[in-house]
Amino acid sequence: MAELNLVLLGPPGSGKGTQGERLNEDLRLPYYATGDILRAAVRDETQLGKTAKEFMDRGDLVPDDVIIGVIAERIEGSEAADGFILDGFPRTLPQAEALDDELEKVDRGLTAALLIEVPEEEVVRRLGGRRTCEKEGHVFHVEFNPPEEEGVCDIDGSPLVIRDDDKPEVIRHRLETYHDKTEPLVSYYEEKGLLRQIDGAQPPDVVGERIRALLSTLRMEEDI
Ligand code: AP5
Ligand code: MG
Repeated sequence: MAELNLVLLGPPGSGKGTQGERLNEDLRLPYYATGDILRAAVRDETQLGKTAKEFMDRGDLVPDDVIIGVIAERIEGSEAADGFILDGFPRTLPQAEALDDELEKVDRGLTAALLIEVPEEEVVRRLGGRRTCEKEGHVFHVEFNPPEEEGVCDIDGSPLVIRDDDKPEVIRHRLETYHDKTEPLVSYYEEKGLLRQIDGAQPPDVVGERIRALLSTLRMEEDI
């Protein structure tokens, strides 16, 4: 298979970051998580971070024109020539169309949009116990995926923190934003024959195995 251009779709807390990290390791493809990119920009107080912060703190999306440029730049780079994994982008119809245009310009296209489905009450439980690595955004959960040492990232040793947008009232607003702005992408990708649904309400290893199996099937289909 020539290249694997993947989008991870799903509500907040569905496990996009958890599975994206695994895919990144398995497939050795660049992994672009717009939430992580924006949080790093906020931390570094760049112009992007200053623009994004107020939207993120409220649980709103940052404006399309701000985020589209961030991803276009990465996809155009040589690092993504053999494929990429996108987490948290696209999140609106204009973003999805911009991504298609960007790929079309260079005669490429998406391989699949993987929708990780999790019921809302499970999402709320997950986000309530999430701990995120301050440096790289590696994801843990106090109960479902605890680090070896409390409060410390297993991968790079940096402190684990609670994300500013993991407060109950902001979680609720992020879910509303998902329903309003991002859910329409499910039918967008379905109509293009790119949607693949995954039951995300299983333990992380089971979800990971299912994604792996699905990608093997996609590869076989492509080889036929
Ligand atoms: P972003 O960082 O993308 O947040 P999100 O979409 O709300 O998703 P999360 O990161 O909260 O959840 P996740 O699906 O990655 O789940 P995770 O693996 O961590 O975006 C943040 C903000 O940035 C947005 O609100 C917006 O303002 C802005 N933004 C970003 N992209 C944008 C864009 N394209 N356009 C405009 N604005 C944008 O898992 C959650 C927890 O559950 C963890 O604790 C994990 O350990 C645990 N867990 C994971 N899987 C399982 C499992 N199978 N079983 C049990 N526990 C599990
Ligand atoms: Mg995430």
